[in-house]
Amino acid sequence: MKITVVGAGNVGATCADVIAHKELANEVILIDIKEGLAEGKSLDMWQTAPVNYYNTRVKGYTNNYEPTAGSDVVVITSGLPRKPGMSRDDLIATNAGIVKSVTENIIKYSPDAIIIVVSNPLDVMTYCAYLTAKIPSQRVMGMAGILDTARYRAFLAEALNVSPKDIQAMLLGGHGDTMVPLPRYTTVSGIPVTEMIDQAALDAIVERTKKGGGELVNLMGTSAWFAPGAAAAQMVEAIVRDQKRIFPVCTWLSGEYGLKDIYLGVPVVLGAKGIERIIELDLTEAEMELVKESAKSVKEVMNVLDNMNA
Ligand code: NAI
Ligand code: 2OP
Repeated sequence: MKITVVGAGNVGATCADVIAHKELANEVILIDIKEGLAEGKSLDMWQTAPVNYYNTRVKGYTNNYEPTAGSDVVVITSGLPRKPGMSRDDLIATNAGIVKSVTENIIKYSPDAIIIVVSNPLDVMTYCAYLTAKIPSQRVMGMAGILDTARYRAFLAEALNVSPKDIQAMLLGGHGDTMVPLPRYTTVSGIPVTEMIDQAALDAIVERTKKGGGELVNLMGTSAWFAPGAAAAQMVEAIVRDQKRIFPVCTWLSGEYGLKDIYLGVPVVLGAKGIERIIELDLTEAEMELVKESAKSVKEVMNVLDNMNA
């Protein structure tokens, strides 16, 4: 089993480290465009193997995709964060250029790979990888929902003073302020969460979750990496171990939830073939309205990309 992680920055390096620790592959290839960065980080990581007792070999390369040949899974984390003075469209153009060229290289050397996109704006960068890769949508997906539900679950665990392991939750929509955490599909060891927390506290946690990424940017001056890296690695694990896990994943929709030709977060079964099934929840009218609103805002950004490609 071979896994490639593109982008040896905060998220990419963390993801590669978690993959190695869990021994999800014999080999992890880390790629970055910045001279020496992937080589250095992978050498440092590999030197933790004797201490942390794992066999996975982590190797890094600067913009050289030959060693990625035959990868089973590829995680794309390359991309810039938004900088002062940069418009949203500039960011889309810059990151779309990066994601496009990375995907071309990946597909050239690993035509059968499953691709997990992490770069932002997430839903649209996943769409960009899909347009470029020209492979079935089952094998091109984006990571956001595991991270967003992890934040929601962590906040709930803290508020309820229970183990985060016991909180199960689902969340739909795009990776942004319009995401739709679903209290109706949130349980604490099978107990509906609404039986354990009052409505005002739950509403506050839902709101904090929606702005969870921004909260961390404000604290650190850059976006998060521990939870994003671990979340992407959890998707890799479900695929390489054919676990058939049910996760919210950014997925190409072809009529599910009444939505078509859009990448959006919905629950799926994740296994060796990639997205093996999309699960359609029986949403209330109010929940569906929120999902539609989220889809609308993702579609607007997808249109920006389409216009750039026109
Ligand atoms: P970072 O700046 O630490 O790392 C990005 C890396 O990509 C840099 O090392 C850079 O040299 C590299 N890179 C740029 N162009 C490249 C190219 N053409 N080929 C290969 N490597 C290239 O950023 P960080 O914090 O790791 O975030 C990465 C991306 O992930 C950002 O777009 C960020 O917004 C996004 N993100 C998405 C999350 C999600 O839930 N989907 C969560 C957290 C971050
Ligand atoms: C996050 O949610 C900014 O997408 C990034 O942490």
